[in-house]
Amino acid sequence: MSNDLENLESSVLADIEAASDEAALENVRVAALGKKGSVSELLKTLGKMSAEERQVQGPAINGLKTRVTEALAARKASLRQVAIAARLASEKLDVTLPVRSSPAERGRIHPISQVIDEIAAIFGDLGFTIAEGPDVESDYYNFTALNFPEGHPAREMHDTFFFQPDEKGERKLLRTHTSPVQIRTMEMQKPPIRIVIPGKTYRQDSDATHSPMFHQVEGLVVDKSANIGNLKWVLEEFCKAFFEVPSVTMRFRPSFFPFTEPSMEVDIQCDRSRPGEVRFGEGNDWMEILGCGMVHPNVLRAGGLDPDEYQGFAWGMGIDRIAMLKYGMPDLRAFFDADVRWLQHYGFRPLDMPTLFGGLSS
Ligand code: DAH
Repeated sequence: MSNDLENLESSVLADIEAASDEAALENVRVAALGKKGSVSELLKTLGKMSAEERQVQGPAINGLKTRVTEALAARKASLRQVAIAARLASEKLDVTLPVRSSPAERGRIHPISQVIDEIAAIFGDLGFTIAEGPDVESDYYNFTALNFPEGHPAREMHDTFFFQPDEKGERKLLRTHTSPVQIRTMEMQKPPIRIVIPGKTYRQDSDATHSPMFHQVEGLVVDKSANIGNLKWVLEEFCKAFFEVPSVTMRFRPSFFPFTEPSMEVDIQCDRSRPGEVRFGEGNDWMEILGCGMVHPNVLRAGGLDPDEYQGFAWGMGIDRIAMLKYGMPDLRAFFDADVRWLQHYGFRPLDMPTLFGGLSS
């Protein structure tokens, strides 16, 4: 009997030693100490023994149980250590690596979107609202309603992209300027009107400073007393705020647009003496930045307004150009290349919305 006990003990202890993980060890425990386990079965035999026999076998079997239990606990602790060591070795975390920024921090706002947001912030502060219109326009809104006579050379000057005529013979086009939204707004809204119209415009033109798709922002004010003095003030306030300088000098030159009378082109004073850099508010050079004028009576009429009752002023400006000037981008074509490296360099942080109180560009 004592030989049997010794054999059982050494076999259970060998199994414990051989168990290679906690699950295997658990199987060994159940086989020895579980309800029907080898050691448990031995313990059950004590009840049927004579008192003398039990005096000998009791301590022997219980001693066996104790040693098996201790061996199980020891093996379990060492297997746990091994498992932890293996996890530590495999789950290495290099805390010296630089932190990866989240997508919201990595993304960049395109300079054009930034400049449109800046324009909206400036004119919003002056009491203007934003208006928009379709990129695919009719000849009527793009030209006729804006007082371009049929066959007038100004239509040709716009290098228009025309679509094929539709079933009714109407030839749609890609708008060549944002001015058609002047008419669309007057049709829908009674004065006083104070709107700015940012948007995409299209002309057949392509080089370092011209792109077939580009952006304009139009302004329109119509009420009973809007005048050139108001126009000059609004434009000057805009230029100061946009270029973030305390003062600008502007020059109004007579010009021609079919939809304004009188018409003017506006230059702003700048300094171009440093290569690759333009500074505003100083210097003795001039740079043309926009066209403007008093809204032509025919345009008011086309918008359903009586020119004897209402008058207005308007202007139109290239967004891409003023973005290039403000942020020093040399080639317009890069705006539309969708090169993330360019965007990383020239783009703006998405959570920094331009406001007049918080700063437009910083
Ligand atoms: N639409 C003109 C253009 O694209 C720009 C312009 C000039 C708009 C004078 C105006 C304006 O509203 O008054 O060249």
